[in-house]
Amino acid sequence: MQVIIQPSSELAVELVAHIIAERLRKKPHLVLGLATGRTMVPLYERLIQMHKEENLDFSLAVTFNLDEYIGIPPEHPGSYHYFMYHTFFKHINIDLRNTHIPNGMAMDIRKECKEYEEKIKDFGGIDLQLLSIGESGHIGFNEPLSSMFSRTREKALSPKTIEQNKHLFPNPEEMPKRAITMGVGTILEASECIVLVTGKHKSRILAQSVEGPFTAMISATALQLHPNCVFIADENAGSDLTQKEYYRWIFENEPEWEYYREKLKE
Ligand code: GLP
Repeated sequence: MQVIIQPSSELAVELVAHIIAERLRKKPHLVLGLATGRTMVPLYERLIQMHKEENLDFSLAVTFNLDEYIGIPPEHPGSYHYFMYHTFFKHINIDLRNTHIPNGMAMDIRKECKEYEEKIKDFGGIDLQLLSIGESGHIGFNEPLSSMFSRTREKALSPKTIEQNKHLFPNPEEMPKRAITMGVGTILEASECIVLVTGKHKSRILAQSVEGPFTAMISATALQLHPNCVFIADENAGSDLTQKEYYRWIFENEPEWEYYREKLKE
């Protein structure tokens, strides 16, 4: 696992956008795991800009979103279907038939979850999974005590998550209390994971996630087991990390980051 700290949230977003663009240019039919939430908005904006100004091509890309609320339709402004379409998909040249988000309105949720897992396998697995962390330490909606081996399934949301996300609903009381989420085990099978974390309010949970002990109470700690995972944070989110100097040295000196060091100077 690696941790990269950038001086500002803009540069953290810029770095993640360049990594995605580079992977997509190398493999146009990239299977991209996508996340939702406020952290992702500027990242999607930057990718849209790259599409418009630098011809970043999504026409062959395939996407799988991490999660969706149960019981609200895709056209509900609080749903992740709505978020993805309006924040990202409608602005790029992706084929909507290649985008996948769990169906929170499915009659048979267990079947929906099983089929979601099968679809990921049919596409050969996820090449690059994009993530952020919730204040409860969740990845996707893997709330505290989620098994490290869990697969896509229904999950009850924790009070902390409800508090964190209810303001994203036109009527906060309408926020569902359950969701479908990829499991921790599903996420760990992605070939590569990138976790974008910005803002002071995430500093404690980020430090616990990367430097704290591995625990099912904080699903993000499971990423410590992943052989190819990088956390990219801004200075604010990184403020509680104890090994900041080491992480900075890695980005400034390791050859694998040279291409991105140059990109961020442009
Ligand atoms: C939701 C999503 C998570 C995401 C989290 C972060 O809860 N299910 O996948 O990591 O939001 O939210 P924000 O970026 O708004 O802090």
